[in-house]
Amino acid sequence: MKISRVDHFDDTAFGAWHAAAREGVGAGRFDPPLFSAAQSAVAFRAADGPYDYEIYGAFVDGRIVGTVRLELPKHDNLNLADIEIAVVPAHRRQGIGTALFAHIEARVAELGRTSLFGVVNQPIGADEVPGVGFATRCGLTRRNIEMRRALDLPVADELLDRLEAKAAEKIGDYRLVTWTGPCPDEHAEQYAHLKSLLMSEAPVGDMDYEAEVWDVARLRADEKKAADQGRDILTVIAVAPDGVIAGHTQIGVSREGEHRAFQWDTLVLPEHRGHRLGLALKVANQRALQAGYPKHTSIETWNAVQNGPMVSVNLELGFREVERYEEWQRG
Ligand SMILES: CC(C)(COP(=O)(O)OP(=O)(O)OC[C@H]1O[C@@H](n2cnc3c(N)ncnc32)[C@H](O)[C@@H]1OP(=O)(O)O)[C@@H](O)C(=O)NCCC(=O)NCCS
Repeated sequence: MKISRVDHFDDTAFGAWHAAAREGVGAGRFDPPLFSAAQSAVAFRAADGPYDYEIYGAFVDGRIVGTVRLELPKHDNLNLADIEIAVVPAHRRQGIGTALFAHIEARVAELGRTSLFGVVNQPIGADEVPGVGFATRCGLTRRNIEMRRALDLPVADELLDRLEAKAAEKIGDYRLVTWTGPCPDEHAEQYAHLKSLLMSEAPVGDMDYEAEVWDVARLRADEKKAADQGRDILTVIAVAPDGVIAGHTQIGVSREGEHRAFQWDTLVLPEHRGHRLGLALKVANQRALQAGYPKHTSIETWNAVQNGPMVSVNLELGFREVERYEEWQRG
């Protein structure tokens, strides 16, 4: 077995690596939400993206049987290295994961990063997955748990009407504004600021993670990445009477191919909470999704389990649990 870095700009090498990574990361999970090779290539190759990427393969007889994806934040969290290690099922429990971890641990130290972060996906109702024992053995500890939930589409109009009426009881003079695609220039600066707050305003448990640094350039790079991946971003913002953006929600939706949409950020600023804006935003975006993308059959979302207000909105909409997304960290 030999471990080598893989050139993610080489389509053939990248395709082989991606197929092995998909097999390893997706094994035993329900319909895992994984990027296609083309979508991953867009993210990994974007020069203006917020992360640098390195990828590695464990080769046996010229075939990749284990993979590492190393993601290195560029604008914030400069001590952090986000790693995804996977071994295809037929080659597990032979020390390949351990060898990949040792390789990447050395590389991360060489890069001067001191905190390792990784995710273990635990399907609901399944036996404990190997990632738990593996991450523990690598010295990481479980810092936060998010729940992945799915909702079949369409949500009945009667339910959306009822939830909208419930939100209207408290929404007062806030106004909702909806768009598809890039954020209008008039809102871009405020909106980039809102994006920067998600990781400090949403509960992250015991994870050591700094506030993200966003500006309009990062917002535009993020929008370009989604467009290059064939995705539309559906956004709703809540605007306070004084013109301040009080909250927002986003759904990422593929224009073709995948018939599953993804809930991205939802955030209401602390001083604007208590007006049912979270519910109002989500119902409005749900309607936009169903009106614009009638072939889509589901939407998925991730929330920290301790995020009571967001979880209760999602339960009202009918989301059901699929798997735990456990965030593990060392340092
Ligand atoms: C986790 C994973 C990478 C392990 O790969 P692997 O090549 O089988 O790992 P190793 O053979 O090097 O195992 C190293 C240690 O991890 C632990 N471990 C691995 N599989 C385990 C399992 N099924 N149950 C309990 N502990 C396990 C053990 O301590 C093991 O040491 P041991 O074999 O001496 O008991 C692999 O199962 C996988 O790809 N899982 C899906 C993706 C994932 O969860 N990645 C980890 C998060 S970044």
